[in-house]
Amino acid sequence: MFWAEQLQNMRNNSVCQHYLRTSFLYTFLTCAFQLNGDYIAGIGLGLLAEEVEMIPSIRECFHLMDKYHMLENIRAHSLVVAKVTCLIAQGLREVGVDISVEVAIAAALMHDIGKTPSLKSGQDHSETGRQICLKNHLDEIAPIVAEHVRLKTYTLNGDFSEKEIVYYADKRVKHDKIVNLDERLAYIIGRYGRNRKDLSKAIERNFLLCEQVEEKLFEKLKFSPESLSYMVENQNKMCDRRLNSNELFLSRP
Ligand SMILES: [Fe+2]
Repeated sequence: MFWAEQLQNMRNNSVCQHYLRTSFLYTFLTCAFQLNGDYIAGIGLGLLAEEVEMIPSIRECFHLMDKYHMLENIRAHSLVVAKVTCLIAQGLREVGVDISVEVAIAAALMHDIGKTPSLKSGQDHSETGRQICLKNHLDEIAPIVAEHVRLKTYTLNGDFSEKEIVYYADKRVKHDKIVNLDERLAYIIGRYGRNRKDLSKAIERNFLLCEQVEEKLFEKLKFSPESLSYMVENQNKMCDRRLNSNELFLSRP
């Protein structure tokens, strides 16, 4: 179909990709014009454009990692966090939870995007990451990045959200290894809370919430927190395919 070819052209065109993310109306009008009056096709394209608005592709996430000089060890960490995130998000979808796997993966890949710049500036890396996302028109990803260390606007009894998945997944990955919450807590206290009693207490409180998030997530999921490591290593072909495909989410079924 003609509109499908147009969609493919837009997908392959970086300028159109930008419009897809930044301006639904502009995209709609452009499509309607390009399709020479085929308004139905234009509407179809417009709706698809709205669907992918603000969600970066895997390729774009890696491009942004390069752009903001993400250190190799942080990149490796982010990739494992994305794999854990993918497993949990996909698992929740399989039991009927309304969650966007694409948004969750993109946010996981981007969650430490502010870390390398923050090493120089001393600014909170979550806030730096939020600003980077907004600067790059990733409005949907920005609040998830902003709350990946601490959930600020969160109720445990609320609906499942991408941000609690990324928040939890990050707590399960030390460097690029999957560990349990106790091991990650011990590492963070050792690194940031040593000789700082107040900070240590705050970190412990944060991990208490994380334990509750873990309980909430795995009450629904068909696998246990302990099996995550094995699953990422051995049973994660779908997530590996997603993360290695280097394609736009738009092109995925
Ligand atoms: Fe992280």
